Order: sequence, then C-alpha cells, then structure tokens
Amino acid sequence: HEEITKVKNVQFIEMGRYEIETWYYSPFPAEYCDTERLYVCEFCLKYMKRRKTQQRHRAKCDLRHPPGDEIYREGDLSVFEVDGKLNKIYCQNLCLLAKLFLDHKTLYYDVDPFLFYVLCESDEKGYHVVGYFSKEKNSCENYNLACILTFPPYQRAGYGKFLISLSYELTKLEHKVGSPEKPLSDLGKLSYRSYWLMVLLSILIEVPSTTIKDLSQRSGIKVEDIISTLQCLSMIKYFKGQHVIIVNRQEMKAHLEGMKRMRLAKPECLSWQGPG
Ligand code: COA
Ligand code: NA
Repeated sequence: HEEITKVKNVQFIEMGRYEIETWYYSPFPAEYCDTERLYVCEFCLKYMKRRKTQQRHRAKCDLRHPPGDEIYREGDLSVFEVDGKLNKIYCQNLCLLAKLFLDHKTLYYDVDPFLFYVLCESDEKGYHVVGYFSKEKNSCENYNLACILTFPPYQRAGYGKFLISLSYELTKLEHKVGSPEKPLSDLGKLSYRSYWLMVLLSILIEVPSTTIKDLSQRSGIKVEDIISTLQCLSMIKYFKGQHVIIVNRQEMKAHLEGMKRMRLAKPECLSWQGPG
C-alpha cells in the first residue's frame, strides 16, 4: 500500500535546553497542529502550544526522571524501564515526539503492549532524556526492539549503538536471540550494521573456530543478521549446504582498528531481573 506522505505539521520543538527542528509529520491532536512550535516538558513530555503554559507547567511538574524503574546506571547515564500500560500518557507522548524524526509509520497510541527503555543524562536539575527504544512485551517473532530514537541534539555521539547494545544485553538475560523489527530506517540500518560487525569481529578474534550458531548464542544476534553482516565482508561461504565462516585474522584486526570506539552497555551496570 502506498501511503500518502503527510506534510510536516510541527516545525520545531523546544525541550529542555534545546530547540529542535523536526524531520517528519507526526499525528498530534488537531489543535496542536496549527502551530509552528510545540513546547515540551522534558520530564513528563507533556506538549504545549504556548511558552507561557510551559513556564506555568514547569512550576508544578514534580517529575525529574522518566516514570519507571532505573535499570541501568553508569556515571551520569541512566536508563529507565517505563511500562506502556502503567504510564500510558508518558509513552504516547514519547511516541508522538519520536515520530517527528521517523519516516515510516509507527505506533503512537496503542502503547500497552510495549516497554520503553529511556536513556537519560543526569545533572543537578534532573534526568534529561537523550533517546529511547521500545520493545514488545511478548513478541512472537522474537523482536527485541521495535523503535529506536536518539533526539537530534544527541545524535552521532554513540548513544544509538549504546541503546542497541542494551537491547541485546536484555535479550541475553532472557536466554534468547533477537532482532530489530523491520523496516529499519537508513540511519537505523547503519547503526545496526556497525554494531553487529563490531560485536561479531570481537568474538571471532577471540574464538576463530566457531560456528554461526555459537556466535548467535554468545551475542544474542539472530542467525540471519549474522549471515548478512558477515556476507558484507565476504566472510561467509556456502559450502555443502552450510554457511561457513572464513576467518582472516589480519583483516579482522585491521577492520576493528578502523572502527570508532563504541560505548556499549556494561552488564555490571544493569540491574534487571528479566520477565517473571
Ligand atoms: N549521517 C551518516 N551516518 C550517520 C548519521 C548521519 N547523520 N547519523 C548516524 N549515522 C550512522 C553512522 O554510521 C554512525 O556510526 P559512526 O558515528 O560510528 O559512523 C551510526 O549511524 C550510529 O551512530 P550512533 O551515534 O551510535 O547513533 P545515534 O545516537 O546517532 O542514533 C539512530 C542512531 C538511528 C537512533 C538516530 O539516527 C535516530 O534517532 N534516527 C531517527 C529515528 C530512526 O530512524 N530510528 C531507527 C528506525 S526505528
Ligand atoms: Na533533547
């Protein structure tokens, strides 16, 4: 089905100390669409049409962090797990804001079946939202991430890959393998590709004689994603009905050295019991 691309309705948002130019249309309620600019409370994510309203709101909003459990802390970085069912308005607001930077259709209102992992940077004023990913509570397809966003002022600083790595740490704690929901945006694909490559090469350098299945179990990365990643580097051959990894230590080392250092989620900073 061809969807008509809707014209961008909100041009700017003001949130915390940032003014952010938007990228795409987002289905805010009609009465919020006839203004150029929305004013957003950086803590509860309420959106408002007037700066005055935002100022008044700031005086009475008590929230200083996302409404959920802090499951990760490393210095001034924290991640909160917010349940779409328990904090519906917050999660709907987050989705509407995220859509401003997402080309394709995504969920906005039916947030009950999802958990939201919200990454924040903290200072004396509170926990400032940097980005998030959402995850279905029960995914039949074993998706471990539905939607991911880094707010533009924080992009290109490694937070996307940090969130991706966190999604796989959770998957490993669930004793599963996972994959992101499709379609991914171009920026999403680039981020995943570079994360997968780094993780897989790091394992292969340590244990060169391994199988794709073992790589999958160690990394939480689904077999298909491993194959497509290694195929890009021509590191896979199809031999006698099986995929075989071709390891060239020198090449792998050179490749890893050429990659930017990644900030990954550290298991020891994570306090998450998993479901049940
Ligand atoms: N131009 C070219 N490449 C870019 C880019 C840009 N403007 N922004 C990110 N990338 C690529 C790079 O390969 C980058 O890795 P590098 O810096 O090592 O070269 C990689 O993406 C990831 O960068 P990182 O800093 O870890 O991610 P991020 O914090 O910028 O977040 C997204 C990545 C995808 C979450 C972010 O771009 C975003 O929120 N986009 C809008 C929403 C979206 O498309 N989400 C994915 C679909 S659900
Ligand atoms: Na921001």
